[in-house]
Amino acid sequence: MLPRFRKFLRFRVSNKNTAAKAYHFFVMNRQKKAYNSLYCCENQLILPIVETFNDDDMLKKVDINEVKKSATKLIGKDWMLITAGEPDSRNTMTASWGGFGELWNMPVVMIFIRPSRYTYSFVEKEDYFTVSFFEEKFRSTLQLCGTVSGRKVEKIKEAGLTPILSEHGSTYFGEAKLVCECRKIYFNDINPNNFLEEKIKKLYPHEDYHRMFIGEIVNTYMK
Ligand SMILES: Cc1cc2nc3c(=O)[nH]c(=O)nc-3n(C[C@H](O)[C@H](O)[C@H](O)COP(=O)(O)O)c2cc1C
Repeated sequence: MLPRFRKFLRFRVSNKNTAAKAYHFFVMNRQKKAYNSLYCCENQLILPIVETFNDDDMLKKVDINEVKKSATKLIGKDWMLITAGEPDSRNTMTASWGGFGELWNMPVVMIFIRPSRYTYSFVEKEDYFTVSFFEEKFRSTLQLCGTVSGRKVEKIKEAGLTPILSEHGSTYFGEAKLVCECRKIYFNDINPNNFLEEKIKKLYPHEDYHRMFIGEIVNTYMK
């Protein structure tokens, strides 16, 4: 039996996709303290409205073109977390190589992952991945996620990050200042025959060439 609420929102949940969307809405708004409980009743998810919220430190959905930051600084200097997978099975890792841009008339993120990374298998398997960017105070968290493998430790828990289910069923983090949810649209392996600069070769003593994944940016969230 449901408690009585003066105001609530209902989602009719008919399949996995609408369930993921409703759950994502709940988590986004729970962050804002607008909803603190979720009820399920006759194929509906019901969110009671309990209080208004302070908007300041919450991720908000924005257009990617509203992000006025240097891509080389964001990725190369601030670093990012690449994350893929669902709540039952997911992983994250730090990356500082990649790019933002426009390709095939779509806003895109390019990431480069060595096959030895545990995260590689998740990005390979899933249709979506996310990239999350953080304030400087999270540097040690990114250091941890870039030196320890998710094969050995529960990295997300160990790092103290709050996983949030994305609209398309991937994962990002509540502590992030900027997040892009990306739909995988292309991949290719780095081909050493095409290196035109000698010093690049030295970065691959074990010949474990990165796989490049290109993702269309389908959602952007920013604080
Ligand atoms: C600053 C920094 C940047 C990194 N950038 C990349 C990268 O772009 N691509 C990559 O494959 N590994 C990169 N790594 C290494 C992975 O983050 C690291 O191997 C990590 O432990 C892999 O975790 P996993 O096995 O759980 O996927 C980076 C590490 C650090 C510390």
